[in-house]
Amino acid sequence: MKEDIIPFYTPSDKVIVKSEDCYLYDSEGNKYIDFESGVWCSNIGHGNGKINSVIEKQINETIHHGYYFRNKLAEQLSLKLQELIGFKGGASVFLSSGSEAVNLAITLARYFTSKRKILKIHNSYLSAFGFGLLSNDNESLVNIKYNDLEAIDQIDFSDISALVIETGGASVDMVKFPDNDFVNKLIACSQKNKCLIIAEEVTTGMGRMGKWFGFQHYDFTPDMVVAGKALGNGYPISSVILNSTLADKFRQNSFRYAQSHQNDPLGCAIALEVIKTIETHNLIERASLTGEYFKTQLENLRSKYPEGVKETRTRGLMLAIELYDSINGAAISEELFENGFVAGFKLNTFRFLPPLTIKHSDIDQLIGKLDEILSRKRNSTN
Ligand SMILES: Cc1ncc(COP(=O)(O)O)c(C=O)c1O
Repeated sequence: MKEDIIPFYTPSDKVIVKSEDCYLYDSEGNKYIDFESGVWCSNIGHGNGKINSVIEKQINETIHHGYYFRNKLAEQLSLKLQELIGFKGGASVFLSSGSEAVNLAITLARYFTSKRKILKIHNSYLSAFGFGLLSNDNESLVNIKYNDLEAIDQIDFSDISALVIETGGASVDMVKFPDNDFVNKLIACSQKNKCLIIAEEVTTGMGRMGKWFGFQHYDFTPDMVVAGKALGNGYPISSVILNSTLADKFRQNSFRYAQSHQNDPLGCAIALEVIKTIETHNLIERASLTGEYFKTQLENLRSKYPEGVKETRTRGLMLAIELYDSINGAAISEELFENGFVAGFKLNTFRFLPPLTIKHSDIDQLIGKLDEILSRKRNSTN
């Protein structure tokens, strides 16, 4: 029964019985185009055949074996991530959720610097617990307003261990990207004050932004990278990846962090295949090109309906279209869902983070439906 689940959010009554590539199918035979990639996880598409084969192979070998043994898959995956980030000689750990990895990265930063506070851009999500959004009043968090260059000068860096930076905020602010000059100054001041730089790539990583990681759109190299979500394409695996300087410190100092599923082989086997698939199918380039196409279509809507569409915000395949308050976005959101489109909606804004395999024809269907609804709204007010 629905009542058997704690209602932390309100799902529809529909039940998904199959998911494949960009599509979801419910028990009544309805098809949905998933512009949310689940919870922004399924970057290479749902039910990917290669991933399914890897899972089948791995569960017949070993899915979990604890800390008494090395795991070659984890070692291979760490090496691959270091290569993609540019962290030669670094080291990684593999965990389950993005929240956990973010909190571990912060714990490590505090340990290394012997400082307590964390600097982040206001409204960065970070995690479901610990240093995440719910602890906005936590006195360990120093929040800086988006793109506020002058506010950087006011930061007291004396007790800040790390800047945790999300280079694309999809959740709280419904898609927002920090300006280059803001990021440059924030990084420069943080580095000058010996703060570690943690690139929080749980949502922006794994090709979503038309690069492997969101920070690669900017001119800085982090000390640590946190990955999650699309790393497992829907299977729960996350990671903290350290550069060689931090990794060497750990090699010299013992620090204990134990979690039941740490470096489990199944997740690592899946993540290796996810990366291979992204490379083999040029999904980074595809995300970039499809993102440009999607952006153009959203911009066309804005030109056609200047009274309804306030703004579009896009990078790679993280996109949003914000409506003016005079338009009832919630009703449009319901109509989109009823017509088989899954998209994020909040703050009168639609959010789209589809699988990187999304086709132009899928985008055209969405745009066609939005066009039809906005045109109907215009005619009804005339
Ligand atoms: C930017 C960002 N960081 C961290 C997380 C937390 O990841 P998880 O839900 O896997 O714990 C999320 C989740 O939406 C996120 O968007």
